[in-house]
This record gives sequence, C-alpha cells and structure tokens, in this order.
Amino acid sequence: MSQNKKDVNKILLDLENHIQGYSYGESPMELYQPISYLMSLGGKRIRPLLTLMAYSLYNDDYVQILTPAMAVEVFHNFTLMHDDIMDDAPLRRGNATVHEKWNANTAILSGDVMLVKAYDMLLEINPSKLPECLRLFNKTAAEVCEGQQHDMNFETQDTVSEDAYIDMIRQKTAVLLGFALQFGAILADAPETEIQNLYDFGVNIGIGFQLKDDLLDVYADKSKFGKQVGGDIISNKKTFLLLKAKELAKGKDKTELEKWIAAKEFDKEEKVNAVTAIYDGIGIKELTEAKMQEYFDKGFAQYATLKVPNHDTYQALLKLTQNLVNREK
Ligand code: IPE
Ligand code: IPE
Ligand code: MG
Ligand code: MG
Ligand code: MG
Repeated sequence: MSQNKKDVNKILLDLENHIQGYSYGESPMELYQPISYLMSLGGKRIRPLLTLMAYSLYNDDYVQILTPAMAVEVFHNFTLMHDDIMDDAPLRRGNATVHEKWNANTAILSGDVMLVKAYDMLLEINPSKLPECLRLFNKTAAEVCEGQQHDMNFETQDTVSEDAYIDMIRQKTAVLLGFALQFGAILADAPETEIQNLYDFGVNIGIGFQLKDDLLDVYADKSKFGKQVGGDIISNKKTFLLLKAKELAKGKDKTELEKWIAAKEFDKEEKVNAVTAIYDGIGIKELTEAKMQEYFDKGFAQYATLKVPNHDTYQALLKLTQNLVNREK
C-alpha cells in the first residue's frame, strides 16, 4: 500500500472512531436514535475528510480538529434527513430513510437537533477563529437551503436553463465541499490565497460531484448505490440529464418524454425505464459525463496552483478527489 493510501485510511479511521464515540443525547430516544441510526449507516465521509486533509496540507496534528470536522458531517447528515422527506426517498445508504423507519415528524425534529449538535461541535474551534468560521459556516448553510428550495421549485417549473441548474447545484451541494476545504485550511493557519484556492477547487469539484450524483441516480448499480435508482426521474427533478433530454429529444422521443413528465399516475418502474431509454437514445450519459469532467478538470487546474508544505498529503488529497469521478455510490 502506498504512503498516500495509508495516510487517508488512518485519517478516516480516526474520524470514524471519533464519530462512533460521540453521544448526541439520550432522551427522548425518538429524538436521538434516528441521529445515531443515520450517522452509523456510513457514507463516504467525504466532507470531514476534506476538512482534515486540507488541514493536513499545512499542519500534521489533525487530531486537534476531529470534532469541528465532524460538525461538517453532522450538518450534511441533517440535510440528508430533511432532503429525504422532501424527495420522498425510501432508501439511504442501503437502509430505510429516517422518515420511513420512524415518520416525517421524527425526521424533522431529529434533523433540527442535529443542526444544533453541529454548532456544539463547532464550539471546539480555537476562540480566535470562531467568529470567522461561524460566519462562513452560516453563509454556506443558508446557501444549501437556497439551493434546496430552487431544486424543489424546479420540479414543477417547465423550463430551467443550464446556468440556473448549475447555480442550483453549486448552492445545494458544491459550496459545502468548498467550505469543508476552506475550513480545514483556516484552522491550519494557511495563507489567505491558498484558502481561497481550496474553496474554489472545492466548489468546482462539488459541481462535478452533484453531476455524478445525478448520473448515478439513473445509471448506478442498484446493489452498490444504496439509494433508490430512478428517484430523480420519478419526481421530475430537473437534473442535467433531464434538461439536456428536453433540449435534444426530437419527434417521438420528445412527445414521449413530455407525456411522462406530465403523467400524474403512472407505474414508477415503467416511467424510469421509458425515460432512461430516451436518455440512452440521445447519448445523455456521455453529455453529462463530459460536463462533469469539465468541472472536475477546472477544479484540478486550481488545485495545481497550490503551494503546500506537505507533499504527501497534497498527492493523497488529489487522489481522493480524483476517485470521486469514478465512484459507484
Ligand atoms: C449525497 O451526498 C448528497 C449529495 C450532495 C449528492 P454523498 O454522496 O456525500 O452521500 P454520503 O454521505 O456518502 O452517503
Ligand atoms: C441533495 O441532492 C443535496 C443536499 C443538500 C442534501 P440530492 O437530493 O440529489 O441528494 P441525494 O441523491 O438524495 O443524496
Ligand atoms: Mg434533493
Ligand atoms: Mg435527495
Ligand atoms: Mg441525488
């Protein structure tokens, strides 16, 4: 195993142990059990890993910031708990979503207290850095909500431009990856220009990351994905795939696509199969992959301008983010 791989695995192991050892609260159990449930179902932990790796670019002692890094993951899981209600999603990380296993009210309140717990974790930041970090965190969190509302609005909006779509995913997904990196760099006292570069890098790979998520929603291997395949098609999500298909479908494909989008009652599987077949016919997968690659490449070009002291960590973080392109979940 290479040194790089060992480094990331060690950080991930320390992070995982830290997460498993954290107690959110006990009673009433309906409030706290869903948190432990969702947090213990795993997930890639990419956001806190980005924080810890960005910190490690400049400072070796990442153990100091495990709790603040965990705050980013708890915030992310809070958004997932609510997102799954909003998207009517049955599956998360291969298991029932919280609102399915308990109910929507439980998922709302458990999610709310998760956000509070994330703030608790942020309180461990060095007091001299706390105001700056809180300001950036709050800006990011509000943007995520703005993106989520656009995402919902777009479901029933007939036309959505490519620019509006990219801006929506920048807000709902990409800024949190940007923040995760920026946060780690700030805590490590990195130079201002490096902090900004890491943020921009994170936002660009974050846009690529959501494009990949949209692709997986249609094309993932069910046994690996852990979420319902076809959920975006069922709910008419204006993903890049659907936007391009609406733009490029001609003749019979166009009529059929419009029919499925307008359908009020339908067999879910039939709709997913039919819309996927239309995507396949016009090469939507390849078009989306090209767009995704464009954003990843833009991010990697920014990453190449960094001047960090820890070269091993630099390579390891590069590898970690490159692997997001070909991920299967
Ligand atoms: C899912 O995030 C939500 C998106 C922003 C695409 P992840 O793909 O990071 O999900 P987990 O945390 O690994 O399960
Ligand atoms: C959600 O996007 C992004 C969030 C801010 C939670 P999606 O709705 O596509 O995420 P998944 O596919 O459910 O994980
Ligand atoms: Mg959603
Ligand atoms: Mg969702
Ligand atoms: Mg998705």
